[in-house]
Amino acid sequence: MTWLVTGGAGYIGAHVVHAMVAAGERVVVLDDLSTGDAGRLDGLPAVPLVVGSVRDRGLVRRVLREHGVRGVVHVAGKKQVAESVADPLTYYAENVAGLVALLEGCRAKGVTRFVFSSSAAVYGTPDVDPVPEDAPCRPLSPYGRTKLAGEWLLRDCAAAWGLAATSLRYFNVAGAAHPRLGDTGAANLVPLVFAALDAGHPPVVLGDDHATPDGTGVRDYVHVADVAAAHLAAARALTAGSPGGTYNVGRGVGCSVRDVLRVVAEVTGADTTPTVAGRRPGDPASVVAAVGHARRELGFTARRDLHDMVGSAWTAWRRLSADAVRG
Ligand code: WQD
Repeated sequence: MTWLVTGGAGYIGAHVVHAMVAAGERVVVLDDLSTGDAGRLDGLPAVPLVVGSVRDRGLVRRVLREHGVRGVVHVAGKKQVAESVADPLTYYAENVAGLVALLEGCRAKGVTRFVFSSSAAVYGTPDVDPVPEDAPCRPLSPYGRTKLAGEWLLRDCAAAWGLAATSLRYFNVAGAAHPRLGDTGAANLVPLVFAALDAGHPPVVLGDDHATPDGTGVRDYVHVADVAAAHLAAARALTAGSPGGTYNVGRGVGCSVRDVLRVVAEVTGADTTPTVAGRRPGDPASVVAAVGHARRELGFTARRDLHDMVGSAWTAWRRLSADAVRG
């Protein structure tokens, strides 16, 4: 069967495409290339790239029909928290209205298997640690609210017309399975630290007065290659007849900002002594996944550690910098 991967030219989406193809799945990609890079699909000649938006209803139906799509992995979407606060309309249009348009196409074409890119941002500031999937969801940003709304929509479609849908709540994604697949977004901690080092500036710690062991924010960092493996496991479970579900995608291990800075120093040899600024508004002290549900039901366990993430991210970052110099 053929899977449509939306956002398949993006940082996470391209890792999903490579993992699914390597596992023998047939894939077609829909990506508007607003942040995606077609070069991430180099080496995959059998994967058609259709350039366009999930909000283009005619295009979605044509792709589903022409490629005989039987399942969708929906990764396309906007995912920057601060940007979503400044521009909620764009986030609801892309992340919610885009999902509505895609699901209308799926219903029209009889596509009933759906894997959805959700986020730990749906939890907001959890009051349990680690946080299980049945914890209260109180998202703190428009971004997180669009992801929670997406989950609700999928559950309602499942009840109404038999959609089998799985939502994957990513925690903090980092690393690269190959140097050409690195995160070019530079909006999350690891690439931000690299950018500071490249600029000759100390990294900035956003708050060292959190209720955590060393006072800095604790997160559950998970390698993007493991995140891709979780998508493959979810797709295969749906193919095997699973009705779908909601799963955390993390390691179940909390790392502080200082932990990350220490590993960056080990990997790069750089001095990562930071400057300390105030907390970011709405930043939870600690967000760590409970990972038993995905292990039991999907057979998924993240295998790579923080050193793998930082090391692979640094290799990809240096390649990106070298490419930029070459122009
Ligand atoms: C990580 C930690 C910061 C930058 C994001 C988004 C979303 C979601 C989860 C997918 C925090 C600290 C950061 C810096 C710092 N994933 N920090 N200095 O905020 O946990 O959430 O990932 O949907 O992408 O919600 O990620 O990388 O911004 O911050 O000290 O320069 O690093 O305070 O503790 P975050 P982040």
